[in-house]
Amino acid sequence: MTRPRSGCAHSGRKGTVAVGSRTNVVKLIRVYKEYRRGGSQVIAVDDVSLEVLDGEFCAIMGPSGCGKSTLLNLIGGIDRPTRGEIILGNQSTAKFQDKDWTRIRRHEIGFVFQAFHLIPGLTAEENVGLPLLLGGVRGEEVQYRVAESLDAVGLSSRCRHRPAELSGGEQQRVALARALVHHPRLLLADEPTGNLDSVTGDEVISLLRDLPRRGGQTVIMVTHSEAAAKNADCVYTMKDGRVHGLIRPNQIGDHLI
Ligand SMILES: Nc1ncnc2c1ncn2[C@@H]1O[C@H](COP(=O)(O)OP(=O)(O)OP(=O)(O)O)[C@@H](O)[C@H]1O
Ligand SMILES: [Mg+2]
Repeated sequence: MTRPRSGCAHSGRKGTVAVGSRTNVVKLIRVYKEYRRGGSQVIAVDDVSLEVLDGEFCAIMGPSGCGKSTLLNLIGGIDRPTRGEIILGNQSTAKFQDKDWTRIRRHEIGFVFQAFHLIPGLTAEENVGLPLLLGGVRGEEVQYRVAESLDAVGLSSRCRHRPAELSGGEQQRVALARALVHHPRLLLADEPTGNLDSVTGDEVISLLRDLPRRGGQTVIMVTHSEAAAKNADCVYTMKDGRVHGLIRPNQIGDHLI
């Protein structure tokens, strides 16, 4: 779904150049994802075209099973489209090999999931530092960036806690710090408040909402929560694998989601 530039709030960062001289826009052109199991076929994503603008906080809503997570996984290269093209910045991913996706995820994409996915035996700071170590960053640089990232989510005082010693909201904030520690241009969040009560969910959403403003990141969030989506700049609605609407957050109640 291509849309006029005036369609949603925009941070005004149009024209900024991201890592490697790429503008940080996500563009999907006629993307399909089919799964085959035995004789049956599921079209999880069905001819989706959309654009997310640089510095935008975009929500994706829709009923269970409509293809939201599949779509997010395609954008992040966790899964590959059956057909269609995904463009990140100015770069088509059509010919990407696994190593290209690994590189782009390591440098430019952060993920947050409903279930946090923290490593139980590691402290908050060790969890946050892990992507840096995997990316070859070492020494004081790791310490500095971990401290910066935990500070950004307000959890410096919990840096030595293990996940079991943190509340659900705190665990999700650690997961967010981990997703942001390598300063990605794009953050993909799949139901980040799904396991949280409304108060702690609000804390996580306000951190996500501030990212475009503070760090210039683009955020795409899948959510079932109308309250969460109302914080976004724009909302794509999905049904049966298709994106069938782009609405403003204040229109959420008027649409069947
Ligand atoms: N690996 C897979 N193999 C086969 N079918 C799959 C696979 N992953 C997802 N599906 C199917 O694709 C459809 C979309 O799944 P998806 O997880 O994207 O839905 P969703 O919108 O995220 O749902 P929810 O809100 O419940 O998380 C579903 O019908 C699901 O059963
Ligand atoms: Mg899902």
